[in-house]
Amino acid sequence: MIEITVLGIESSCDDTSAAVLRGNLLLSNVIASQSVHIKYGGVIPELASRAHQQNIIPVVDTALKEAGVTIDDVDAIALTRGPGLLGSLLVGVSFTKGLSIAKDIPMVEVNHLQGHILSHFIDLPDTEMRHPKFPFLCLLVSGGHTQIVRVDSPTEMEIIGTTIDDAAGEAFDKCAKVMGLDYPGGPIIDRYAKEGDPKRFEFAKPSVADFDYSFSGLKTSFLYFLRDRVQENPEFIGENTADLCASLQKTIIDILLNKLVKASKKTGIKEIAIAGGVSANSGLRNAIEEEGRRRRWNTYLPPLKFTTDNAAMVAMAGYYHYMKGEMADLSVTPTARLENMF
Ligand code: KG4
Ligand code: ZN
Repeated sequence: MIEITVLGIESSCDDTSAAVLRGNLLLSNVIASQSVHIKYGGVIPELASRAHQQNIIPVVDTALKEAGVTIDDVDAIALTRGPGLLGSLLVGVSFTKGLSIAKDIPMVEVNHLQGHILSHFIDLPDTEMRHPKFPFLCLLVSGGHTQIVRVDSPTEMEIIGTTIDDAAGEAFDKCAKVMGLDYPGGPIIDRYAKEGDPKRFEFAKPSVADFDYSFSGLKTSFLYFLRDRVQENPEFIGENTADLCASLQKTIIDILLNKLVKASKKTGIKEIAIAGGVSANSGLRNAIEEEGRRRRWNTYLPPLKFTTDNAAMVAMAGYYHYMKGEMADLSVTPTARLENMF
């Protein structure tokens, strides 16, 4: 069987990425990260779209070269339609339309969140990969989203729990900012947490119905806690960074796991995956595996390079939609909010 070749293009936030898949097999995955935002402590949309504009042609070109293919070998181009920053998405969508018209290649639109989940089905060359079996539950934790998704097939997913305010990644990033750490704060907190005592401080945990999440209360209580301590001792943050990071990270992980356990019990599903930028967190990865051993779950952690935004996952999602004959036409427009998965 000749497998189809999909070029994936991702530009929803601050990473410009292009990847080539043949069937499920990854041939290349190129990511240009934008350092321009670090000094502002967050992504500046206007600067992000300009950087995408500069990066996109060299990134796509490199992805094709690294895959050892030319654009004429590509059967479909998968684009991220949303959710994300509108100006950033526009660059990827417009570029893809141009390439699609010029080369007469069909386009497939992808929901970025479905992409994160389907990163679990990417095969790497010469590597034995474990893929979740359907139905499975995926804890999707990124900078913009925190959801528990029931996945019945590559294109049939249902959100059964979601955040009612901030996302888990946002909680990491905002609390890091309060401590004076760089953006994105998640990976920095992760590093400090390894040296710290997770039981040293206690922060408020929310009580929200069903499988939904809330992180804004934690963020506020963290802020007030620090304000009070810094008034007593201006050096408090610097002297306690590791313990603060470890305790905060532990609180976020406990909140995430608590609802995931509930969702598994309620649905009876024991195939459990995590995805999204926060699934790179070493504490969360360990905690999921530990919980899984205790509860006889089959747990699936994505390779680290597929946790944060990348085009390989977009190509993977695009592949499944292409196989179902679901092509996009030239009227496709980016959308900032695309909470619904289908
Ligand atoms: O999925 P992603 O790359 O972008 C979105 O779609 O939002 O996720 C980015 C988020 C950021 O909030 C970042 O701080 C967080 O993922 N993140 C982490 C880690 N690596 C990235 N959070 C905690 N620990 C990490 N190791
Ligand atoms: Zn993402």
